[in-house]
Amino acid sequence: MIPRVIVYDAVSLDGRTIGLDVDKELYNEIASKWDLDAVLMGSNTVLAELNAKPGEVRGEGKKPQIDPEDERPLLVVPDSRGQIRVWDEVRAMPYFRDILVLCSRSTPQEYLNFLEERYVKHMVIGYQEVDLGAALNELNVQFGVKSLRVDSGGVLNGVIFREGLVDEVNVLIHPELVGGKSSSSIFPASELNPSGGSKVQLVLVHVENLKTNFVWLQYRVFK
Ligand SMILES: NC(=O)c1ccc[n+]([C@@H]2O[C@H](COP(=O)([O-])OP(=O)(O)OC[C@H]3O[C@@H](n4cnc5c(N)ncnc54)[C@H](OP(=O)(O)O)[C@@H]3O)[C@@H](O)[C@H]2O)c1
Repeated sequence: MIPRVIVYDAVSLDGRTIGLDVDKELYNEIASKWDLDAVLMGSNTVLAELNAKPGEVRGEGKKPQIDPEDERPLLVVPDSRGQIRVWDEVRAMPYFRDILVLCSRSTPQEYLNFLEERYVKHMVIGYQEVDLGAALNELNVQFGVKSLRVDSGGVLNGVIFREGLVDEVNVLIHPELVGGKSSSSIFPASELNPSGGSKVQLVLVHVENLKTNFVWLQYRVFK
């Protein structure tokens, strides 16, 4: 079974996910409303969050103390290129009970050894990239994940939207216009093919005005 997948992004009024001043308190307040088993976070998002460079090694790889009663979500990160090497700092984030890294057959063995030595759980699934559909299914089977939120600046969203894996889309619109020519929206994905077919149709389920100038929009994906 594929878990229920919720995409949630802070956006500017012009739909940008990067370059805006995110109201973290408000963002987290909304994020805490979902009863989640896991958070799927893009590798670029992890690096940005910790201000780390791809491949930069920090920390010694402390053995974690995992409490089986801990009800916080599992953090799941696709990192097939072995970019993240600051796992002690990821573990120190207060939001997650444990970490699972998703790798593929293209992931260097050296990185798989690195994860092993640092007590970071990992799963090899997919050939070149991580096979996200199969990974979501395994998360349900092996870890009992029934609901999951995606935390991505857009790239990971784009892949899972195109693969038809998303059930719900949320945006917290910030009262800003960012502009620019980068494609940092919630859905940078491959072009639609001429016969269409993979456009995502949505149904509005909730709208809320917050702190005067912010708007939370919640849509269900029409399947
Ligand atoms: N406004 C917001 O709410 C918000 C939220 C989160 C992040 N951000 C910002 O967004 C930026 C980072 O976001 P981003 O969109 O650049 O990257 P991202 O989504 O964080 O990272 C890209 C992810 O997509 C995976 N991926 C790419 N192509 C794939 C494929 N074909 N199959 C399977 N997996 C694939 C990558 O896996 P591999 O590593 O295995 O290639 C990676 O984990 C940061 O600046 C961050 O601060 C904003």
